[in-house]
Amino acid sequence: MPLLETNLPNKLYQGKVRDTYDMGDGMLLMVATDRISAFDVVLPNGVPDKGRVLSQMSKFWFDQTGQIVPNHFIALADDPEGLGDLVNHPIIKTLPPEIARQATVIKRAERIDVECVVRAYLTGSALVDYNQTGTIFGIPVPPGLVDGSKLPELLFTPTTKAEVGHDEPMTIDEVSAMVGADLAVKLRDLSFAIFQYAHDVAAERGIIIADTKFEFGIRDREVILIDEVLTPDSSRFWEGTQYAPGKSQPNYDKQFVRDWLLTQPWDRTPPAPALPDDIIEKTRERYLEAYRRLTGQALP
Ligand SMILES: Nc1ncnc2c1ncn2[C@@H]1O[C@H](COP(=O)(O)OP(=O)(O)OP(=O)(O)O)[C@@H](O)[C@H]1O
Ligand SMILES: [Mg+2]
Repeated sequence: MPLLETNLPNKLYQGKVRDTYDMGDGMLLMVATDRISAFDVVLPNGVPDKGRVLSQMSKFWFDQTGQIVPNHFIALADDPEGLGDLVNHPIIKTLPPEIARQATVIKRAERIDVECVVRAYLTGSALVDYNQTGTIFGIPVPPGLVDGSKLPELLFTPTTKAEVGHDEPMTIDEVSAMVGADLAVKLRDLSFAIFQYAHDVAAERGIIIADTKFEFGIRDREVILIDEVLTPDSSRFWEGTQYAPGKSQPNYDKQFVRDWLLTQPWDRTPPAPALPDDIIEKTRERYLEAYRRLTGQALP
């Protein structure tokens, strides 16, 4: 059964996918549910195992990128070794196993309200903008690029974190105006460094990370990496062997869901239509496969 809703005490925030609880002492419990969103709308069905994949994959990357930038990760909520004394924390002690297995204990941070998007390949909203303007959100790029073209260099294309509706592109100057020039440059450089590291790890496993989104926060006056990291929900993963520019690439995210929704008479406002079982199963298999390919192991 997919985990669609959680109702523990001290709920702080319910996002499209994650439910966040205050554990006190500057810690949060973040439950990655099995909810799935498309076109910014949460769908009525869940995808079994999706929350576990998101939690475990973020941990995989947090473990490896800690030398580049500190992060919010403390422990998976079902990992006694990682938790240490926190096993006796009232929330953890009473946490049902079906929630614990897809939840993470994290350090609470003051969120920086910028989505730090890094792109190595042209697709999605950047492609739409390129076809209209010949630039990528104002950044000059060569002519003649097509869907899936590798960009000459990594691009930083930040967006707002909209409370409702879609996130809007921001220029680096707009980020500077919001958070200060030094922090803006730091966010960009950290985003590039994490992306480049992960891109190289994934490439060895035959996966192309086309683009991704990072979030950062401030904790003890230090910039830390927060939220989820390099998951199929926050990134585009492409199959290396099938990569060919000039078309949309076979990938590891919600493509089946989006493609199916596009065949439906639906105006992209809630409620979304329920997904057929085979679309759910194919999507579940894609999430599990992404985990296997990137980590080299089956989901524990
Ligand atoms: N360490 C942290 N401290 C504080 N907030 C965090 C931390 N890590 C992640 N968050 C926030 O928790 C929320 C996670 O929920 P989720 O991603 O499901 O929301 P969402 O629907 O995508 O909405 P949003 O646009 O706010 O991300 C996000 O708002 C994210 O910014
Ligand atoms: Mg989010």
